[in-house]
Amino acid sequence: MNKPKRYTITSALPYTNGPIHIGHLAGVYVPADIYARFLRLTGNDVVFIGGSDEHGVPITIKAKNEGVSPQDVVDKYHAIIKKSFEEFGISFDNYSRTSAKIHHETASQFFKTLYEKGAFIEETSEQLYDEQANQFLADRFVTGTCPKCGNEEAYGDQCEKCGTSLNATDLINPKSALTGNVPTLKETKHWYLPLDRYEDFLKEWILEGHKKDWKPNVYGQVKSWIDDGLRPRAVTRDLDWGIPVPVKGGEGKVLYVWFDAPIGYISSTKEWAARVGKDWEPYWKSDDTKLVHFIGKDNIVFHCIIFPAMLKAEGSYILPDNVPANEFLNLEGNKLSTSKNWAVWLPDYLLEFPNQQDVLRYALTANAPETKDNDFTWKDFQARNNNELVAIFGNFINRVVVLTNKYYEGVVPKPNELSAIDEETLAAVKAYPDVIASSIERYRFREAQQELMNLARLGNKYLADEEPWKVIKLDEERTKTIMYVALQIAAALATLSEPFLPFTSSKLKAILKVSSSDATQEHRIENSWNDISSKTILLPSGHQICEAELLFSKIEDDTIQFQLDKLEASKKANEVANKTLEPQKDTITFEDFTKLDIRVGTILEAEKMPKAKKLLVLKVDTGIDVRTIVSGIAESFTPEEVVGKRVTVLVNLAPRELRGVVSQGMILMTENAEGKLVFVNPDDANVPNGLHIS
Ligand code: 2FM
Ligand code: ZN
Repeated sequence: MNKPKRYTITSALPYTNGPIHIGHLAGVYVPADIYARFLRLTGNDVVFIGGSDEHGVPITIKAKNEGVSPQDVVDKYHAIIKKSFEEFGISFDNYSRTSAKIHHETASQFFKTLYEKGAFIEETSEQLYDEQANQFLADRFVTGTCPKCGNEEAYGDQCEKCGTSLNATDLINPKSALTGNVPTLKETKHWYLPLDRYEDFLKEWILEGHKKDWKPNVYGQVKSWIDDGLRPRAVTRDLDWGIPVPVKGGEGKVLYVWFDAPIGYISSTKEWAARVGKDWEPYWKSDDTKLVHFIGKDNIVFHCIIFPAMLKAEGSYILPDNVPANEFLNLEGNKLSTSKNWAVWLPDYLLEFPNQQDVLRYALTANAPETKDNDFTWKDFQARNNNELVAIFGNFINRVVVLTNKYYEGVVPKPNELSAIDEETLAAVKAYPDVIASSIERYRFREAQQELMNLARLGNKYLADEEPWKVIKLDEERTKTIMYVALQIAAALATLSEPFLPFTSSKLKAILKVSSSDATQEHRIENSWNDISSKTILLPSGHQICEAELLFSKIEDDTIQFQLDKLEASKKANEVANKTLEPQKDTITFEDFTKLDIRVGTILEAEKMPKAKKLLVLKVDTGIDVRTIVSGIAESFTPEEVVGKRVTVLVNLAPRELRGVVSQGMILMTENAEGKLVFVNPDDANVPNGLHIS
């Protein structure tokens, strides 16, 4: 499109059934924020929209599991998520929620308009039903095998493995997520959006119109769905949590969450416009508006096929110009998972790395899953911080500010004649705004951020080559010129870093006393993005700057080890949780049980059985005697560890000779939550040895 007059930028509305983690940030919110900040800095009219997706099955399941109402769940997580976004500098112009009145009204009206236009098919059909739960099963209430890729854990609306959008009845071997039962079929009426009617429109708009400018991963997925043929899609559900279906016959039914959620972008825009006294309509209805949806790859079908078909059916809306969906971020080689607690949660991160939001933003952008799934590792995070933010960006700024204070009491010196190197360096700085902009405009945020770091590298190289700390001893006038040039680079970094490192950018602007979005009157120097190329002087001679302040600090190995240990603990807990328990043994009679003579004892002595890796020879006080027991626990305990331990002993087990030592009984053991062998021991020291266990 020609240069747009305004931008509407949306970012996927997160489900409010848990806090958000690094995967959300890397896949959707940081790239969207970089884009929005960049556009504002370059003087564009932008609205950046966010909000919470508060309907849908995951929320009702969570509420059921926790024994609270869905409203309780969404209230809790809406607040947590909104706070995380604020803390990480995601600069939404409006953050709304789909339980808001304005959203219910907007989504209802949208449905009614489509209904009145005859855009739906009304159909009674047999749907999956859970007799025990008394409930129809759709979306995440039902799992089964994906008919396309064979994934056995596909959901009733989508297979997360191959991305296919499904109807619940498509699943092979469906199973209720509520009770585990095999569903029956029961008749119910629903409204369907006949996506097949939009095939030609979608082909022309996306397959022909956006072949070149949409990311290959997005275009490829869309093409494959269209090539497979589109089918009508139910947009209502038999549920009691959601937006009531606003037409006759819709009693007891609600809108499908994926029908109402994207309309949430529109409601949130309306809420913003009302607050700031603007008209929302041009942002959604004017051809000179550029609409961009930032999402993760599991949301592609909804944003590229279903929502556009809805917008087209309504008739008065524009369509997205681009949907730069990201792939997934993994964590230390494994898929991020809420249920397995395999994640870095944003509230936890901030507790453990206070005020280091930019470090995470930086590491996530440097490793963003833009073209393929990518892995976040704590070692990489540490290296990005220590080797790039500290060693390159921070080091350059620190040297410039410290030396300016040391040599000139913080006043920008007056340059003398510029050398060829100075001229070249300043010319190189001027090229950066366009280079970075070009990457951002093509949604290549990793590349854009690398270019920003190249500017910091340029500054470091300039200082290393010109060595003002040496030149000062020989030529004070030349030193002034060097420091003047270096200060111009620092000022360029202060402006150009804002989209990527907003907290650092503000801090740096405060140090250099140039304006930032939260500047006070005294910071009079304004350097916009375009000024970096067009102005000759970014920091004039005579301008006073502040003392140096560290922008970044080194992250030590033990901090990283702490994070790795936390993940290791999650892994172990999962292993235990997923361990298949042995089936129950054959039933025994009470008489059988009474044959076992189990008593409380204390280990008095312990030593390793020579040449046997697994065995310890124990002397155990059983209350009735002190006897020798050979136990296969040497790989889990040292002899010193077990002496004095209170244990449970089977004392009437037939004696058995093991490597020449007669073992007279058995110590009862089990495994703890981490899978480690532990004694079945009476905790209370007052329980005397010899006591029967019965
Ligand atoms: O996948 C998700 O988390 C959805 N809640 C995204 C919704 S995006 C939009 F349409 F609201
Ligand atoms: Zn599949």
